[in-house]
Amino acid sequence: SESGCLSIVVLGASGDLAKKKTFPALFHLFQQGFLQSEEVHIFGYARSNLSDDGLRERIRGYLKGSDEHLSQFLQLIKYVSGSYDSGEGFELLNKAISEYETSKNNESGSYRRLFYLALPPSVYPSVCKMIRSYCMNPSSHAGWTRVIVEKPFGKDLDSAEELSAELGKLFEEEQLYRIDHYLGKELVQNLLVLRFANRLFLPLWNRDNIANVQIVFKEDFGTEGRGGYFDQYGIIRDIIQNHLLQVFCLVAMEKPVSLKPEHIRDEKVKVLQSVEPIKHEEVVIGQYDGYKDDPTVPDDSNTPTYASVVLRVHNERWEGVPFILKAGKALNSRKAEIRVQFKDAPGDIFRCKKQGRNEFVIRLQPSEAMYMKLTVKKPGLEMATEQSELDLSYGMRYQDVKIPEAYERLILDTIRGDQQHFVRRDELRAAWEIFTPLLHDIDAGKLKSVPYQPGTRGPQEADDMSRRMGYVQTHGYIWVPPTLA
Ligand code: BG6
Repeated sequence: SESGCLSIVVLGASGDLAKKKTFPALFHLFQQGFLQSEEVHIFGYARSNLSDDGLRERIRGYLKGSDEHLSQFLQLIKYVSGSYDSGEGFELLNKAISEYETSKNNESGSYRRLFYLALPPSVYPSVCKMIRSYCMNPSSHAGWTRVIVEKPFGKDLDSAEELSAELGKLFEEEQLYRIDHYLGKELVQNLLVLRFANRLFLPLWNRDNIANVQIVFKEDFGTEGRGGYFDQYGIIRDIIQNHLLQVFCLVAMEKPVSLKPEHIRDEKVKVLQSVEPIKHEEVVIGQYDGYKDDPTVPDDSNTPTYASVVLRVHNERWEGVPFILKAGKALNSRKAEIRVQFKDAPGDIFRCKKQGRNEFVIRLQPSEAMYMKLTVKKPGLEMATEQSELDLSYGMRYQDVKIPEAYERLILDTIRGDQQHFVRRDELRAAWEIFTPLLHDIDAGKLKSVPYQPGTRGPQEADDMSRRMGYVQTHGYIWVPPTLA
């Protein structure tokens, strides 16, 4: 049901995620008219002793918009304080929600309660129990109760399964929305269309034509301020096992039967289940110099801030094609992209091999773009070849479109009850199955993080490995995102 009272509850309202992502996303939805003042109310819940205005002041600085919009939006927010494991706070919360619900003239509509857990996962089970015991949409009401949870969903297969089982006792799978915000990014959502709506790609997308695929995440800053959290997890749990693996699924999976969320997620699970065990010699992990200067990071930490991991898919389409998933902090640039590198043209008469291969690059961020590296005749009187590109840069092509933020799209999906871009329980399990043996070996010190200098490409060993995997870098070719003059 898409109408009626909507109560959005942000748990962990005074935390970082809520301030930086959740409230700004809600504000964007409000600005665009997706959250109507007449039917929406927002509740912040946390332990700190704050007034409504206290919370409003805290988040105001993170919201960009006209003063009028801003004050209208902030007026929708109420604050309730309480602990995460005792009934009292949640009784208060329920009372606040119910009061608001009865204050509304809501004859035709239903009642919708959306809980957003912007919290550390250690409190998920207790908070979910509290919601279940005190705050559910009463069964006498039409409507729903839905819960959004954020990674980390456990630290390995067993802990993730335990968490899933606990939450599974409290909520139906249809009520649980496991967010992976990469699934809300425009060019990630575009992958399905690109692959399955273009005749051009269909016959090429396989081991006969593709030499290797890279899925790359780079950040040009370190773990400043989050060292304590990060050191418990490391880059594989923070980025690769979730964000990059989701992208991998969309690049590698077979065509779904239809666009129904279950059909799409079925295919994702299948391709995950086809991934072979990761071999140590196909992994490079690194840690940047200076990481351990953070007082919250132990001096002997082996936690990787960089990792390059090769996945191999054991099926008819991909046998023999390495998928290199690479992520790092404190590198030389900030970007996320997919690189699909094609094999050399056989029987080359131009001797253009040295200029590089066809490569299809999907730039997820920043400056969303897709470009295809091609060999063309160098314009001019001579018969020479050079690398050029077919380029679709979103900023140029879609000048009037504002690309939505991942979180705002995903929150809207939750309100609409569309689980396509959320991680299903069996999908999460399959993802952990792939990485758990490697993670345990790293935790046990069987693989050592090699040091790298901040501001560089990361460990040399990773580039060497990519080369070994058959990746051919085009020297001297640099794609610069075109900008409006
Ligand atoms: C988060 C990670 O999930 O994603 C962070 O915990 C990382 O470490 C962030 O910085 C990156 O998200 P984005 O959207 O900026 O690429």
